[in-house]
Formats: sequence, structure tokens, C-alpha cells
Amino acid sequence: MTGSDRDGTRIAVITADITTLDVDAVVNAANQGLKGGGGVDGAIHRAAGRAKLREACAAIGGCPTGDARITDGFDLPARHIIHAVGPRWKDGTKGEDDLLAGAYRASFALAARHALRSIAFPAISTGVYGFPKDRAARIAATECLIAAESGAFDAILLCCFSEADALVYGKALEREAER
Ligand code: APR
Repeated sequence: MTGSDRDGTRIAVITADITTLDVDAVVNAANQGLKGGGGVDGAIHRAAGRAKLREACAAIGGCPTGDARITDGFDLPARHIIHAVGPRWKDGTKGEDDLLAGAYRASFALAARHALRSIAFPAISTGVYGFPKDRAARIAATECLIAAESGAFDAILLCCFSEADALVYGKALEREAER
């Protein structure tokens, strides 16, 4: 585990299945339709209870790329799910960086608005959406450090699914924290 303490906020990179985490909010790497999918989205829908989460997502309707929406956590240990829509990687010139940063920022803004003090993110956009991991990790680390400065959070977890990814995100966090 790699971590950084910023203004009373613990930022940590962990390797875990995000559906097992006991936090105020887990973030889902969702799609614009909020209809569920594979990867972490599929895992969250399965663990939260497919029917209940599908119904809650249908009531919201959808979410643009770079933004986020919130639902109950249903059967998850986490109290809430923040559904963030990261960009599909194209070639890096189609606003992908800003859209990914936007997905993190919108998630933090929603969490703060609901007074949620612990939040865990998956490596948004780095699976099916093909965002280069180094680049995604730098953006995630930067946004976590900015959010930590707000004082609104006790714990921010970057939850990777493999040790290899945790190494990439951990290095990015160390690098960005030193800047
Ligand atoms: N816990 C934590 N991380 C996970 C889990 C899990 N249970 N399952 C997968 N991951 C990791 C993947 O290893 C990857 O590093 O989540 C990261 C994001 O990968 P994807 O889930 O493929 O998400 P993304 O690249 O943002 O693509 C989103 O995929 O499933 C669809 O509906 C989803 O259309 C959307 C798209």
C-alpha cells in the first residue's frame, strides 16, 4: 500500500475488489447509459443486487462522459455508489484527459455534497475504455491531491485490481505529491 497524508486526509493506493470495501462511497466506472456492463461495473451491479441497482440507475436515466451520479449502495458494504463515466481512449487529442479529470472531480463534488468522508475509486477508463494506465494514474493522483486539500474527506482510496496497477498508481501518487 502506498499512501500520502494531506491536510488530515489519507490518500492510499490499495489492491482489492472494490465491492468488498466498507466506505461511504465506492465509485463505479460506468457508461453513459448507466445500464451496467462488464469489468468493475458488472462486479458492482452483481454485488449491490442487480435488480435494485438497475432500477435506481434507470430512474436517473443516464450521465454524460466526465460527470457522475449517485445511488444507494444497496447490498454493498459501501453506503453509496457514485457512477462516474470516464472517457473512451481515442488518441489523446479528443479531450480525454479533461474528461477523466472531470469524472474524478464530479465524484468528489457529489461525495462532498452528501457529506461522504471516505471514498474509493477504481482505475477509471483503464480497462475496456483503453486509457493508458500511466496517464490515467497521473490524472487520478492529481485530482485526489486537490480533493484532499478541501478537507472534506478522511480517506481517499485508489483501489486497483492488480499489484501491477497498484504499482503504477502508487508511483503516480508519490510523484504528484512531491510536486
Ligand atoms: N474491483 C476493483 N477494480 C476492478 C474490479 C473490481 N471488482 N473489476 C475490474 N476492475 C478494474 C479493471 O482491472 C480496470 O483496471 O477496473 C478498472 C477499470 O476497468 P473497466 O471496468 O473495464 O472500466 P472502464 O475502462 O472505465 O470501462 C468502462 O466498461 O464495463 C463497462 O459499463 C462499463 O461501458 C463501461 C466500460
